[in-house]
Amino acid sequence: MKVVTTIKDMQELILKQKSQGKSIGFVPTMGFLHEGHLTLLNRARKENDIVVLSIFVNPLQFGPKEDYAEYPRDFERDRALAESEKVDFLFYPSVEEMYPTSPSVKVTVQERTDVLCGSSRPGHFDGVATVITKFFNIIMPTRAYFGKKDAQQVAVIEGLISDFNIPVNLVAVDIVRENDGLAKSSRNVNLLPTERKEATVLYQSLQAANAAIDKGERDPIKIIDMICEVIGNESSGVIDYVQIYSYPQLKPLEKLEGTIIIALAVKFTKVRLIDNIITKID
Ligand code: PAJ
Repeated sequence: MKVVTTIKDMQELILKQKSQGKSIGFVPTMGFLHEGHLTLLNRARKENDIVVLSIFVNPLQFGPKEDYAEYPRDFERDRALAESEKVDFLFYPSVEEMYPTSPSVKVTVQERTDVLCGSSRPGHFDGVATVITKFFNIIMPTRAYFGKKDAQQVAVIEGLISDFNIPVNLVAVDIVRENDGLAKSSRNVNLLPTERKEATVLYQSLQAANAAIDKGERDPIKIIDMICEVIGNESSGVIDYVQIYSYPQLKPLEKLEGTIIIALAVKFTKVRLIDNIITKID
């Protein structure tokens, strides 16, 4: 595995691989790797000749009061994990390398951002779309792998690829969970021990919602109320949002039908956790 820190070196290495007809699988991350990330890498390894992992905590996608400074980082551990997943190139640029000057052109996401994390994290998806546009130009991937844990991110990147005609295939991978159902996240280490136990209620509330839908409930408000009640009763976390939309359009629904996303965000002392389920209603 080769660790690459400059854009110029990365582009040269990729162009060389592409000239030999090699397919490139790309997994963008902010590091502090866990099984969710490793599942994306594993899938990329199976489907491509060359696997590129990026580790970059992107300042542009954090709000001024968010956890950019506290975001967990451990490069040596990540490097060893990447090596064991048979990554070919680990792209690890500095903030100065990625953003040497203030931007002369900005990527602004127009749709699908007034809901879910977009409304509680203004500017977040502009930051994600900007860094991903840069990565796509640097790594020129055949396929790019994203997790459905960040389902709105997947929807936004789908829009980016389609609007800007970027020649990359987006592969969306299912959420990887702990044994007790908590969605794996780099941020879980910043939960207090009592909060870690309570956090299982996030997925439990989504499963309860799913069971109610299976039994025939079609009123989104009733489902949302039910989730809020379960979380309110069983955790000290403060609900940021519980919302239901069509997926991937992220449009409001008066009645549950078609493919829908039930998504939530809950704030604990030091971290805000998200989770969702995407389900198809016949
Ligand atoms: P990060 O949070 O590090 O996540 C990197 C990728 O791993 C994302 O596509 C995310 O959805 C996926 N992932 C995280 N936890 C997962 C889980 N439990 N199961 C399945 N996939 C999971 O998302 C980002 O970084 C950034 O926004 C990034 C795309 C790198 C742009 O900066």
